[in-house]
Amino acid sequence: MRAAKRMSLIPPSSTLKVLGLAKELERGGKKIVHMEVGEPDFDTPAHIKEAAKQALDRGLTKYTPSAGLPELREAIAEHLTRQGIEATAKNVIVTPGAKHAIFCALAAALDPGDEVLIPSPCWTYEAMVKIVGGKPVFIQVSEESGFKLEAEKLEEAITPRSRLLLLNYPNNPTGAVMSAAELKPLLDAAVDHDLLILSDDIYNVLVYEGEQGNPLKFPGMAERTISVNGFSKAYAMTGWRLGYAVAPADFIVEMAKIQEASTTCTASFVQAAAITALRGPQDFVAQMRAEYRRRRDEIVRGLNEIDGIKCLKPQGAFYVFPSIEELGMTSLQFCESLLKTKGVAAVPGSGFGPGGEGHVRLSYATSMENIRLAIQLIREFVEESCK
Ligand SMILES: Cc1ncc(COP(=O)(O)O)c(C=O)c1O
Repeated sequence: MRAAKRMSLIPPSSTLKVLGLAKELERGGKKIVHMEVGEPDFDTPAHIKEAAKQALDRGLTKYTPSAGLPELREAIAEHLTRQGIEATAKNVIVTPGAKHAIFCALAAALDPGDEVLIPSPCWTYEAMVKIVGGKPVFIQVSEESGFKLEAEKLEEAITPRSRLLLLNYPNNPTGAVMSAAELKPLLDAAVDHDLLILSDDIYNVLVYEGEQGNPLKFPGMAERTISVNGFSKAYAMTGWRLGYAVAPADFIVEMAKIQEASTTCTASFVQAAAITALRGPQDFVAQMRAEYRRRRDEIVRGLNEIDGIKCLKPQGAFYVFPSIEELGMTSLQFCESLLKTKGVAAVPGSGFGPGGEGHVRLSYATSMENIRLAIQLIREFVEESCK
């Protein structure tokens, strides 16, 4: 069947190629060490699950308002206020996953041909921007800068069609974190050129050193910022599909129109569980963070002990993005060959936009045992295939 012309602009994912191969090998009986999956290996805390069960028993099984249950919108606004961010329920929309919040935000913000500035390597924003008729403009950030966007590079990329700057720190795939002081010149440039900011803050509870700045904490920035967050990473709730965006109240009304026309609303009992997640005990988050930090230290140390691999120590999220440049193969060759010979699944850096090639992404949202096994297998692979 012929699809719309714009579908041919949506790039196929090289990530999926490797994942498809991993599944095929697994079906054939090969043991695979999964280092590709970007999802917490922890279970959702029991009290959150219990809240969903109770909501179902109470009969919370119908549609909710498109922007979300009023009580959840309030709980999210309170959660932000506790972090020093001024927000009311009217500034919040609840969505089925942070991904859908990003999609609604882009659809509500962009006119055809509007340019979206995306520091790269980056997560899968390109497809979303293109689907809603925008034009992604990648700004390649260097490993030397710790994969952080610098204001000069941003200024060089801005044109009269620039509409929105998309920030994602802590970053997927690099794990880079940007402090308030580092963000400041970028935000100043956004004001000078009248850009909106879309800040994907999904990993903001996973910061191991330093601090992650938040555009909403800067005076005057709330009027041009859409901050996206969710429950997938912070509360190990990927399968629940639960996210939210914070933006000026009039923009939330526009985003709600997109949600109304697409998914209607987020699942009602899932929203009830989210209230418990935000208002209940938070010690789980700190425990999870401490465990991720231990794993990060282990994987960075292990990778840097392998000749030909260089790995920066990321300050946040749960990914490492080591350089394999010295090994003389493309990231896709490396990942395919590593998977076939040693059964370790990793994602080629080429799948994360300009600047990704020469790197691979490994997730440490997996057990310490798997991490140690993966390092040992990668070492064997490098020694055997790169002699
Ligand atoms: C940077 C980034 N943003 C958003 C998401 C999506 O989160 P959700 O599961 O809430 O849709 C992910 C998931 O991997 C991510 O890595």
